[in-house]
Amino acid sequence: RIPIIIDVDTGTDDAICITAALLHQDQLDIKAFTSVCGNVTLDKTSQNTRNVVSYLGSDLPVAKGAEKPLEHELTVAKSHGNTGLGDVVLPASPHGFLEEPAWEVIYRHALSEKGQLQLLAVGPLTNLAMAITRHPDIVPLIRKITIMGGGIWGGNMTMTSEFNIYNDPDAAKIVFDSGIEMTMIGLDVTLKPKLPDWVVDEAAAVKTPYGDLVSRIFDFMKRRKIEIGGDEPNLHDVIALASIVRPDLITTKDFYMTVETEGTVTRGMTIADFHCVEEKAPNVHAAVDIDIEGFWRWFVDMLKSSSR
Ligand code: BDR
Ligand code: CA
Repeated sequence: RIPIIIDVDTGTDDAICITAALLHQDQLDIKAFTSVCGNVTLDKTSQNTRNVVSYLGSDLPVAKGAEKPLEHELTVAKSHGNTGLGDVVLPASPHGFLEEPAWEVIYRHALSEKGQLQLLAVGPLTNLAMAITRHPDIVPLIRKITIMGGGIWGGNMTMTSEFNIYNDPDAAKIVFDSGIEMTMIGLDVTLKPKLPDWVVDEAAAVKTPYGDLVSRIFDFMKRRKIEIGGDEPNLHDVIALASIVRPDLITTKDFYMTVETEGTVTRGMTIADFHCVEEKAPNVHAAVDIDIEGFWRWFVDMLKSSSR
């Protein structure tokens, strides 16, 4: 099993990512979930994470992380509603939080896993950057980082930038420049699978807490689309999780990449050196394509497995 820490800003698609992670514990040895400010404020992302994990019957630890980005002000995402979980209200978890902050939990497990720990980060990268700057000796101890964030082309927050990277570009730059092996699951692939009706129906038929939670979030996403318009819902963070447990679904291409931290129009842009002008070795496996049908099949089969 892969020892892993999952860093989230829960968040509707983050909640489904947690669901998918908990249903893959045969492959993933989840050491902890860590929360970061992003879709909503830290108090909400933390409590949402704690409540989701408990609702799904797990007592895995949750640690709180950064309350604000390193340098910039946080811009929360309207699309996840005021609480971050849309209109889904879960029972309050009976469990509290670890006392250590997220970056210390990450460092502690990096030490004890002796080079095997992986990190999956599906919110702004503040906690990971804190772990790297406070404990530079962590770099050779992390086996790999997978992020949902950025993209080679285009943005969803601005013309050039994706939400997670836009919110903490300084943290993202620290992570991209760290030398740790990294896979970027960006908008190039996460915008491709649009939630189909047959998946909504299959989820509704799964009568377990897993099916119930996912289906309530899908209802919110569908309603939000009718109310505020826009595209079919996307499951960004879930695709990053899928890339770890089903790497065959995702095609990647290696690039040297870095991050624009300021910029008048390009703050948070992730830039790929297509023509090797920097003459630097690639530091990112960037996702460029996804088997859409295979992804939805994997997703539905996984949810169904919760009733077996
Ligand atoms: C990312 O932004 C958040 O709103 C989602 O949870 C996802 O991590 C997509 O840009
Ligand atoms: Ca997220």
